Amino acid sequence: MADLIAEIKALEANAAAAIAGAADADALAQVSHDFTGKKGALTGVMKQLGSLTPEERGEVGKAANAFKNKLDELLSAKESELMQAKFASLAETEFLDLSVTPPEYAAVRGSGAHSGHTHPITQTQRRLEEIFTSMGFSIVDGPQVEDDYHNFGALNFTDDHPARDMQDTFYTATGHLLRTHTSTVQIRALEGMKPPLRIIAPGRVFRYEEVDASHEHTFYQMEGMIIDRKVSVGNLLHLMQTLLTEVFGREVDVRLRPGYFPFVEPGFELDMKCLVCNGSGCSVCKHSGWVEVLPCGLVHPNVLRSAGLDPAEWQGAAFGLGLNRLVMMQHGIEDIRHFMAGKLDFLRQF
Ligand code: DAH
Repeated sequence: MADLIAEIKALEANAAAAIAGAADADALAQVSHDFTGKKGALTGVMKQLGSLTPEERGEVGKAANAFKNKLDELLSAKESELMQAKFASLAETEFLDLSVTPPEYAAVRGSGAHSGHTHPITQTQRRLEEIFTSMGFSIVDGPQVEDDYHNFGALNFTDDHPARDMQDTFYTATGHLLRTHTSTVQIRALEGMKPPLRIIAPGRVFRYEEVDASHEHTFYQMEGMIIDRKVSVGNLLHLMQTLLTEVFGREVDVRLRPGYFPFVEPGFELDMKCLVCNGSGCSVCKHSGWVEVLPCGLVHPNVLRSAGLDPAEWQGAAFGLGLNRLVMMQHGIEDIRHFMAGKLDFLRQF
């Protein structure tokens, strides 16, 4: 019996040496196979148990189990050691320094790569979205290719309203049109949501315009609308003031004039003192010192009716912010055409 136990001890020493020298997972599997596999060394020893008493067999059995456990322990320790070594060498050979300027950028730019950023209109749009969502408004969207109903009809434009004219609106061959304002989304929101509601709808709009320093055929607006049981001009003015103060970071000079839009009654034009020329007159304010940025009003009963709401029960206020002009005031940009010119020298300033 003592012989067999000594043999097992010897196996353990051999196995430990083989494991220590194993170079990879395959070599480890081979060690396991050689020592404790079906035809392995331990099986060879156990075949000699026949001549022993039951007590002696028990002793050898214990030694065999201890050997197996020891082997498992050594194998898994070596396995994790090999794994760590593998990752350490991967980290060495496949290391990637993402902060290094690629040589080709450095060559083109001279001083290294320039990172891009969002367009100045997008920056202001996002800021406005933050301001309005913090006041409980939802951001909604609508299609840019619209139909007459959503762009005009449901907004209380008469059939002969001049805005419908081919001179002002881009029509498609299929009888659709490119929306001329984001007010379309007022109707879309009223169709899809239940009052009370507060929404803003930023987006791109299109007009068949003679392009100059203050007119583009493609520009950006942000519509806003609240519908509730009681909405007043006071609510509307408060919203407008919050908006402008937040965007400009200070009080700005504003004036309110009556304005006509078919979908509001009463309607107003909110102008702000031109910040490009400080009111002395320039191309942006058409030399008047004031810029129309915020037409607004109380939602016309006909608009409420066309959405199936009873004007005796529901009231609304709306505004249509001209995003391009607002951004021009913010940054002192003198020509609206810069926005879409795709000139990097212009865009990099923001
Ligand atoms: N949709 C109008 C335009 O583009 C602007 C406008 C005026 C929007 C008054 C409104 C509003 O929501 O109440 O000319």
